[in-house]
Formats: sequence, C-alpha cells, structure tokens
Amino acid sequence: MSSENKEEFLKFPEGFLWGAASASYQVEGGINNNDWAKAARETGKVPPADISCDHYNKYEQDFDIAKSLGQNCQRISIEWSRIEPAEGRFDQNEIQHYRKVLQSLRDRGLKPFVTLWHFTLPTWFSDNGGFERKDAPEIFAKYCSFVTSQLGDLCDNFSTMNEPLVVSGIGYHRGKWPPFKKSKLKTIKVVKNLIKSHNLAYKEIKKENPRLEVGVVKHNINYVSNWNPINKIISSVVDYFWNYYFLKKTLENTDAIGINYYTSRFFGVKNDVPKNDMGWPLNPEGLEKVLIDLKKYNKPIYITEAGIADEKDQYRADYIRGLVKSTYGAIQSGVDIRGFMYWSILDNFEWAEGFWPRFGLVEIDYDSPEKKRTIRQSAFVYKDICESNGLKIK
Ligand code: BGC
Repeated sequence: MSSENKEEFLKFPEGFLWGAASASYQVEGGINNNDWAKAARETGKVPPADISCDHYNKYEQDFDIAKSLGQNCQRISIEWSRIEPAEGRFDQNEIQHYRKVLQSLRDRGLKPFVTLWHFTLPTWFSDNGGFERKDAPEIFAKYCSFVTSQLGDLCDNFSTMNEPLVVSGIGYHRGKWPPFKKSKLKTIKVVKNLIKSHNLAYKEIKKENPRLEVGVVKHNINYVSNWNPINKIISSVVDYFWNYYFLKKTLENTDAIGINYYTSRFFGVKNDVPKNDMGWPLNPEGLEKVLIDLKKYNKPIYITEAGIADEKDQYRADYIRGLVKSTYGAIQSGVDIRGFMYWSILDNFEWAEGFWPRFGLVEIDYDSPEKKRTIRQSAFVYKDICESNGLKIK
C-alpha cells in the first residue's frame, strides 16, 4: 500500500462521551401551557408543535435507538411548564415522569445531560413579563433548585439554560419569537437578567447539591474576516459580544461549558461552501477554532449541539466526520473536551420554521399515526465513530 492511501485513526481520550441531543418542546408533544403553544394558538406567528414526535410517550423506544447507535450519553431538557404549571405549584407527577426518563437513560448506559430551560416559558411567567421581571432570577433559581433537588440523584450534569443570547436576540431584538418584541433596551435588560438568573440558579443548586456539575449552554459562531480593517473590527466586536460576554459574566458560576455550534459568519471573505437546507454555510472546520478560543477559560467543555438540517441526508455523514475531526484537533491543542452530542437524535419541531427542517439521525414520518422512526444512513457513520471512540481518515 502506498503511503498516500494509508488510513489514520484519530483516537479520542478514554471515556469520551458520544451522544445526541433534544429539547422538550421540540420532541415531546402535548405541551399546551407555555409561551410558544400560546403564541401558536393566539397569534399564529409561530406554528404549533402539537404532538410533535410524541417522545413524551415514546422515550424508551428513542433511547433504545440511541443505544443501538453506539451512543453513551444523551442530552434532554425539562419542560418548565410541566413541572411548575402555576407559580410555586410543582407537579410531582411530572417529576416522576422525568425520573423515569432519566432512569431509562441510565438503564441503557446513556449518561444523562439535563438542560433546565430550553427556550419555552410557562405562561404564568411569560404573561407577567418573563425575564424582563426584576424578580425573574429568584423565580428561575427556585425552579432550577427544585428540579435538581428532585432529579440530582439520577443525573450529574445540569445546564441552567440553553443559548441565552439566541432567546433574547430573536425574542426581544428581532421580534420573531415569543414575546415578539423589537427593543434594544429590552434586549439588554433581558440579557442582564439572564446572567443574574444563571448566577443565582447556580448558587442555589450548588448550596443543596455541591456534587453536581452545573453549567450553561452557549451558542458560539466562528467569525472569519478578511484583511480589511473595518471587517476585522466588526468581526471582533461581534465575536466578543456573541461568543464571550455571557460566558465571562457567568464564569465564576460555571463548572462546565456547553457549546452549540452550527456555522461560521464571513466578513469580506467569499465562501462558496455548500449550505444546509436552512441556508446556513456548512463549515465544520469552524468548530475547531470556536473550541480553541475557549481554552482560556480553563473549564471542561461538552459539545452539547452540532448538526445539520439535511432532508436528503446527502451531507450529514461528511459533516459529522468534519465536526469530529475539528473536535479532535481542538483536543490536540489542549482543550479539555469531554463529549460530543449531535443535534438531534430525532427530526423535530424547529421553532418558527415548524417541522420541515430535518436535523435528525432518525427520520420521523409525521403523517403516520405512530410517528414512525427510520434511522438515516448517516447515523451509521456516526455509530462507527461512537463505537470505536474515534475517526478513521484517509
Ligand atoms: C437550538 C435548538 C435548535 C437548533 C437548530 C439551536 O440553536 O438550541 O433548539 O433546534 O439550534 O436551529
């Protein structure tokens, strides 16, 4: 065999975690008591999620699939409106539900990662100002510490919130998601309150349960600029505010950082890379830079989401291989990365877009009464990576 044809194996550290992610409102179905469901009912500005993938009832089947795909961890989120349907009233039946969900992950050798809040708010909170409220941090911290007091024996790793800047940016600045506001001042107020909310929730959780690893999930983008000084300045200002500001303000109260990575933004740089079905440039290489830039914080990092909307499943396998290669590169550069979770295990409700974007390793047939699951070919490529704890490259 000539040396050019030689295969190389990128071996990951022992105990590296491989899995996939999902979020309550996007997959569970049957959630009526939150701001998104209400907005769908009353304004029509966002689509309804209805029964979605019916994951609330089919979680065992879905975790069987994850296990059969060689995974050893899984990220889920807890639906706040189920746990606390009215202010200060906590529903023990729903706690029992999530206890069963976590137990079924553990029974299958899938280490659970739980996000306490992934975008959707109970209506009693959103109707009364949500994260604009002065007392939002106390309300949020109470909910978070209640949940961890009830589930902390079944899960070691919690994130308080998912992508705080996405939720404030799209909900308060661009006005495209509930509560559909377009105000710079409100956006700033909400971001500040989210920082306080995370910090207080962290303290309250750790007071009772110091053993838990508690962090935040951030959406980071790889910003690329050409030589032009103006582009360089814009790119580095955006980079600071989007990628680091929130992390810096919460760093003392963060045991581990969750990173969601989807794309790169180019300033003055021509790019003709293929795009996913939603028009986002596919640039898996950008993940390596995003991760290396976080080395300075000296915290464990989990990739809590990275994925592609690709209905035809034509790019997904290569994209996953590219992401994994980037992750490997960052580990070689000394970044403490402990796990990789593909977004998403199933096709699901893609927020304002509804159900058409297909991110899943598993395809959902929404027209079938049982929401039939079919494993996509690319999922088997990921399976090889998970099972061998590494990536073969030519
Ligand atoms: C969110 C997910 C979403 C995914 C794809 C992330 O920003 O956490 O809820 O489905 O991106 O858009």
